[in-house]
Parts: sequence; C-alpha cells; structure tokens
Amino acid sequence: MIPQRKLCNLVQTRNFFKFLPSTEKSPEAVSVKAVRNSFGKYNLVEPCAVSARRTVPSYIPKPSYAESSVPGDPPKTPEIKNSNQIECMSHSCILAKRILNQIPAFIKPGVTTDLIDEKIHDIIINNGAYPSPLNYRGFPKSICTSINNVACHGIPDNRPLQEGDILNVDITVFLNGYHGDCSAMYQVGNVDEEGKRLISATETCLLEAIKICKPDENFSSIGSVIEETAKKHGFGVIPAFAGHGIGTYFHGPPDILHFVNNVEGKMQAGMTFTIEPILTQGGSEIEILEDGWTAVTTDDARTAQIEHTILITETGCQILTQ
Ligand code: MF3
Ligand code: CO
Ligand code: CO
Repeated sequence: MIPQRKLCNLVQTRNFFKFLPSTEKSPEAVSVKAVRNSFGKYNLVEPCAVSARRTVPSYIPKPSYAESSVPGDPPKTPEIKNSNQIECMSHSCILAKRILNQIPAFIKPGVTTDLIDEKIHDIIINNGAYPSPLNYRGFPKSICTSINNVACHGIPDNRPLQEGDILNVDITVFLNGYHGDCSAMYQVGNVDEEGKRLISATETCLLEAIKICKPDENFSSIGSVIEETAKKHGFGVIPAFAGHGIGTYFHGPPDILHFVNNVEGKMQAGMTFTIEPILTQGGSEIEILEDGWTAVTTDDARTAQIEHTILITETGCQILTQ
C-alpha cells in the first residue's frame, strides 16, 4: 500500500509540466503512483512541497554565489593544483564524505528528504562549512536527494521515504575556500532485485573508471569505460549530466562525460575532478521539471548515481572522497 502523504508547511509546490499548467499549484492534484513493470516494482516520484529556505550563520565563510545565486567564473582550462590547494581539497572532500557516511541513520520509511536536508544542513554548519548547493544558481536546499525515477538534482521536500525506494544523496561542502563533492545510493527497506542490480552496476562503473585515471590518460577514456560497463550489465547511461573540475569553484573544466566520446584533453597530476555516472534501467532521455532542477526520466525508469571527487597523482589517482 502507498502511504497517504501529509503535506505540511506548504511554501512552494512543484508540478510536472505534463500534468498541470504552471498556474495550478495544488499539491493534492499530484498523485502517488506505484508501478510494476519491466523495470521492477516501485513508487513513481512526483515532487512535493519544499520548505522555507534555511539560513547560514554570518560567521560561516560563504562562496561567492551564496547571496547572489550567481557563481563566479571558474578557470578557463583544467587547473593544476599545488600542494596547498590539494591539501584544502582533501579537507573539503574528507568532510563531505564523513557527512555522507551519516546518511544511513536517516534512511527509513516515513522520513522526509526535507528532514534529512535539515539535519545535514546543521551538521555541515557545525563543521564550519557551507552547504555548496544552497542558492547555487538558485538551488533552494542544502543537499540533492534523487529518488527512483528522479535522475539527479532532486530537491528535498516533504515526501516521506517509502519502502522499496532507492535514492541518491549528493553532498557538497565548501570548507576553507574549496568544494568537496560526493554522493551515494541508499535503499529504503526491501528493494527489488532490479533496483539492487542497478545500484551495484553503477558502483562498478564508477570504480572501473577511477581505475584507469592517471597522468596522460584521455578524459574520454572515462566515458568509454562507463558506457561499456553499463551496457555489459544491461543498463544505459544518462548523457545529460557530466562530472566536472572542482576547486574554489563548484563546477569548472574539464567536463567528464560518462558516455563514449572523443572530446580532447588529457589528465595531468594535480587535477581534481568528479566522476558521477547516472545509469538507467530504461531510455536515456530526461526532462527537467518546472522547478528548474528536478531531472526525471521520461519513461519513468529508475536511475542510480554515485559520485567521487578524485585527484590525479604522479602515479595514478587518489579518491579524495574515499
Ligand atoms: N552536487 C551536484 C554535482 O554533483 C551539483 C548539484 S548543483 C545544485 O555536481 F545546485 F543542485 F546543488
Ligand atoms: Co559533482
Ligand atoms: Co555532487
């Protein structure tokens, strides 16, 4: 059975373009649908209500966009970081991962992603850091939570987690002037076999891609490894979202494509970037909801995404968000 949703503290609601005209904002009009199809058995996610924006104390150092929502320009080409910069990156990444490790305590039926956002927001601030997503190009919350058919950039809201959900939680922190970015997949109660297989194939793709990263390797090799590994497991890759260079900027060059490509560019020691493939059970097409962020599959297929920030070293690479 699908639990009845209780909608509280409505501040803003989000609708599918395809179901409602943008002037109609009643959350009651958005229904919960369970599907049992070739992709498995799971609840289709439709966006719920987003609570008021959380605040960050004035003593927390903030990225340039925290007030304006507009990020400063990243470097034009992939940056080679010196040992001081690498040390800063390492601290940010370790913090992001340490906080991500606390997520399992929240993963149970009935818990809303808004509550998880609230708790993680506070933990990030208590560690002297700023939650990088907050107001980044206007993103309204401190983490991204992407459930089932939401491919990425899901906005935490008052939808309670439901038995059988699979979800990505993506945490980025801004600490000592540098961003650290990682995400992982979580399972709510019992998840069907197809959901479990999707998650483990995604993890394999990411780890296989990391294995080949070293100085002089083409960035494009990452996409080949990921797409081929995904295919071998019977899954596809969502091409619309790329990994990215990261540093004092949240997103910069290089773009790390997760599908077969021949974009030029080679890895060099001192580069830091993310790899964050999204695998799908179905087609690779997505659409963005009218909130401007939530990316959903157009065929309602479930997706899984896992992300690490890595550093290219003299001999290979190091996972900074290990
Ligand atoms: N953390 C996400 C990434 O992996 C970025 C989300 S952008 C946000 O790149 F604004 F939604 F936070
Ligand atoms: Co990222
Ligand atoms: Co991320």
